[in-house]
Amino acid sequence: MLQSLFDQLHAVCDVPLPNARSLPGELYQSPEFHQWERQHVFAADWLPVAHVSQIPEPGDFITIDLLGEPLVAIRDTDGTPRVFSRVCPHRSMDILPPGHTSGRLTKTAARAPLPESHGHTRFLQCPYHAWSFELNGRLVACPEMQHTCAFDRADHSLRTFATTLWNGFLFVNFDATAPPLAPDLTELNDFLAPWQPEQMVVVREQDWECDFDWKVMVENFSETYHHLGAHHSTLQPLMPAKRNWTEQERRRYLHSHLPFTDRYAASIQSALDTGDTTATFPIQTGLTEAGMTHWHIIIGYPLFLLLTAPDSWAWYRIDPIAPGKARLTTHLLVPASTRDRPDFPDLLKREYAKLIAFHLEDMEVCAAVQRGLQSRTSQPGPLSHLEMPVWLFHRYLAARTRQTWPTDDRPAALSQSPTA
Ligand code: FES
Ligand SMILES: [Fe+2]
Repeated sequence: MLQSLFDQLHAVCDVPLPNARSLPGELYQSPEFHQWERQHVFAADWLPVAHVSQIPEPGDFITIDLLGEPLVAIRDTDGTPRVFSRVCPHRSMDILPPGHTSGRLTKTAARAPLPESHGHTRFLQCPYHAWSFELNGRLVACPEMQHTCAFDRADHSLRTFATTLWNGFLFVNFDATAPPLAPDLTELNDFLAPWQPEQMVVVREQDWECDFDWKVMVENFSETYHHLGAHHSTLQPLMPAKRNWTEQERRRYLHSHLPFTDRYAASIQSALDTGDTTATFPIQTGLTEAGMTHWHIIIGYPLFLLLTAPDSWAWYRIDPIAPGKARLTTHLLVPASTRDRPDFPDLLKREYAKLIAFHLEDMEVCAAVQRGLQSRTSQPGPLSHLEMPVWLFHRYLAARTRQTWPTDDRPAALSQSPTA
């Protein structure tokens, strides 16, 4: 059965882009395919959990649930960001269960509004039998264990996973033997550097329950052909679909460009020259021309979704909870200098409203696509050349069915750059 689903996947994407089609609906609802994704896609790759700005001070933490794993990202006393399992090494209680208030919002309240998942604490204490852990995960106190045989506190630290920090984002990998992430993303470093990614700050985050599969969200985020329909009055006038193009295939990510109209590009330049903030946040200085005149979409396979604009970033984190169901957390990031402006609350209100306007357009189409995929009339449809990111994403999945990575087993697809 799984092999038949793989065959259907290969049939639509192991072909040149002009022959490529969308995925069969079954792949967005099959429990078997979802189980395979959990074991061979998500559990084998690096998954984003937090941005360092969400835990700025020692003791700051954020709870994250990812693929059924309760996690906490916390800033250690020495300033190191760490990720631990929230599963207590005593009898497996979630040490920071929903609604548990100990340690939450004692200090970070000053930076409110923050979701319930954020908090600050001097140490982590399991609410069940009061075992306490230092911020580096070490067990420091556990009452009434003196008669227990061969008990050594050093053996019962909070468990952790392979963790890496890349451009301010913390990633985990549930496979301790996984190859590192950074070497496959080095080409992005120079491009992202002018924004000073580790100095960016998350200023808004919001959770969304999604009645659609994680792949529907990745496809929607990656392609901008839909500016013609879903965003015809919001994004299409600024970034017309037909100008969009996608870079060559990469092993671990895809990178797509959304060039601005000349008029919009001129208004961005003018906002930079004059410091005008009537239509955007302050424009980041020092950007390359491509950074100034395009939005950029980056998908770090499988679940890291990043959009760069000259004044801000949007970062989407997905938790694929079941076939056809996902939990999405959207984040807006700006440079710290923007956040520290006295007029920032007003700017944020205005800019966030714009972001939500087109996000809601996306949420609506994603839910409608999932409903369509579940129909008996659904079938793989032909892709436009503007949907190259969708094809690349499918080629990533196909590579994973062969236990390899894009570009390792076949030549990389070429860039669509107009200057290539
Ligand atoms: S389960 Fe955590 S202290 Fe007992
Ligand atoms: Fe969209």
